[in-house]
Amino acid sequence: MSGSISKTQNTSPNDGWKNEIVERIEISRIKFKYEDKDRLVLDNLSGSIDPQRITFVVGENGAGKSTLFKLMFGEIKPQSGEISITTAKGKYDSLQGLAAFVPQNVDLYSDTLRNNLTFSEPMSDEIVYRALEESGAAEIVSNLDNGLDTFISDPSIFSPGELRRIAIARALLTSQNLILMDEPFSDIDESNQVKLMNTLRKLNKDIGFIIITHTFNLVKKEDCFFALGGKAYGEKKLL
Ligand SMILES: Nc1ncnc2c1ncn2[C@@H]1O[C@H](COP(=O)(O)OP(=O)(O)OP(=O)(O)O)[C@@H](O)[C@H]1O
Ligand SMILES: [Mg+2]
Repeated sequence: MSGSISKTQNTSPNDGWKNEIVERIEISRIKFKYEDKDRLVLDNLSGSIDPQRITFVVGENGAGKSTLFKLMFGEIKPQSGEISITTAKGKYDSLQGLAAFVPQNVDLYSDTLRNNLTFSEPMSDEIVYRALEESGAAEIVSNLDNGLDTFISDPSIFSPGELRRIAIARALLTSQNLILMDEPFSDIDESNQVKLMNTLRKLNKDIGFIIITHTFNLVKKEDCFFALGGKAYGEKKLL
């Protein structure tokens, strides 16, 4: 993806916060295929995810990981089966308004970096910089002539790894208790990957993470797994 996209598109999974804590995510017998394709991407997928922990979603390229996130946010609907999200207030069929999202392809819209990070919500520099420190993006911002107030007309002034760290800071600034991330470690160098994962483990006291990854050296045996295309994939890589 290149160039800027509208704020609405950019925020769609994050708009209209419900301010409820997700207690359970149940995926039941999901069958899904894209309209223009014959193959079922997800064929009878079932399982549960503990939204308070760190869960790694694993599977080969094309296994349907990003598709599962789109289904979880209600952007697309399964042909059969259901996703059930439980909070203290009730049940929902999607995470829309209940979780923040860091997409696989990060983009920024034409506005200041500050507004990109805060979705134009008033926030102190201290809070914004804390999130930037946590995501490893503070130095990127301090190197800009106008810092947080730099106007971003072309997101390609940032490298893919920098964009990703900015997007992670943006997700942290939503103050949601659950964050889904689609390959947050790609394009990030190894030492920053380790730092970021350590930060996520600390933040996990308050925030649950569901993370699509191929970066197995960051995963610990005690972490939760959600494997697509057979458990063997994740287990084999961990041995
Ligand atoms: N919008 C779409 N229209 C049609 N087919 C699609 C669309 N998006 C994805 N697919 C197909 O669905 C399958 C699953 O794609 P998906 O992006 O969910 O895989 P993934 O597990 O996230 O892969 P990767 O590890 O490469 O990111 C692939 O075969 C892909 O080509
Ligand atoms: Mg993907």
